[in-house]
Amino acid sequence: EETGKSGYEHYMLKEIHEQPRALRQCLRGRVDELSGTVDIGDLGDLSPTGVQFVACGTSYHAALHGAQLFREAGIPSQAFLASEYATATPPIGDALVVGVTQSGETADTLSALRAARRRGARTLAVTNVVGSTAARECDHALYIRAGPEIGVAATKTFASQLAALNLLALGTSSTGDARQVISALRDLPGHVQEILDESAAQEIAEIYQDADAYFFIGRGYHEPVALEGALKMKEITYKHAEGFAAGELKHGPLALVTENTPVFAIVTGDDERARKTVGNVKEVEARDAPVVAITDGQSDVSRYADHVLELPETHPRAAAVLANIHLQLVSYHTAALLGRNIDKPRNLAKSVTVE
Ligand code: AGP
Repeated sequence: EETGKSGYEHYMLKEIHEQPRALRQCLRGRVDELSGTVDIGDLGDLSPTGVQFVACGTSYHAALHGAQLFREAGIPSQAFLASEYATATPPIGDALVVGVTQSGETADTLSALRAARRRGARTLAVTNVVGSTAARECDHALYIRAGPEIGVAATKTFASQLAALNLLALGTSSTGDARQVISALRDLPGHVQEILDESAAQEIAEIYQDADAYFFIGRGYHEPVALEGALKMKEITYKHAEGFAAGELKHGPLALVTENTPVFAIVTGDDERARKTVGNVKEVEARDAPVVAITDGQSDVSRYADHVLELPETHPRAAAVLANIHLQLVSYHTAALLGRNIDKPRNLAKSVTVE
């Protein structure tokens, strides 16, 4: 088992560090930067007029990102929790139903995909495991090519899911900024490596290891990352953590914010979204909560932050992947300091095969 960890203390840390390679594998042979096109095989013929995503846990957070991509391309799209979709299936029309599942064996996701198929929907599995049940049962499969993931906490497969969903959106719909997205995807492995080499995540973990709770906020593409940051923190540290759409904080959760609850705010660019999130950060800072800004420095969020986790300037879709790398590291180091069973957290299984 030790050899399998390649010298890393845990599989999770090894897998976090495998992300540049996993992303390269995901993109290899599928993007042509010169022409600004994406080739994902016969999936290009899908041309969906609507997309419904079904997924659980981390994969659901990737699905939220995927749904945003299609909506931005003018295609109605929504992400559903698979466990809800399976028992309260919404009208499908002629939408493509996409199951996002690392393992391809999650019972709730398989059940949702089967419910969609019973209603005559076309289905696609976005999965890591070739020949998995989801891949076999769906009409199409798009492999994320992340390589085996042993740690119960999904890390590299989330990054690869986001990259693969960008390929899916680029390959089956048209967006004005396809070239910029492709260029940002090409830069992604190198940018991830920079974060792995330079992130101040361990210091943040040391400072806040005794916090009462951890909150994560973001807007747009950064909302699913806020949710994912919180899930990872809960999963491996056993501490209270919640992620919110930044604008929701003032509608209730702000009551939980104290000087012992660090708030991680993901803010990139300097557009309306960024400015509004900076406004939310000010609300938090005024309540004496420590603020950790994950930012590319384009907005003035750092003025209201106690700490900064730096991001390079890139397309917001790629920035979401990069912000998550910092958050993976914060959770990992916090769990390590607390002596948790990082690769096999209590009560959890890598693949949940019961509904
Ligand atoms: C992620 O860290 C979790 N282990 C869990 O939420 C997982 O993402 C979920 O169970 C879905 O698994 P899947 O991607 O294999 O379908």
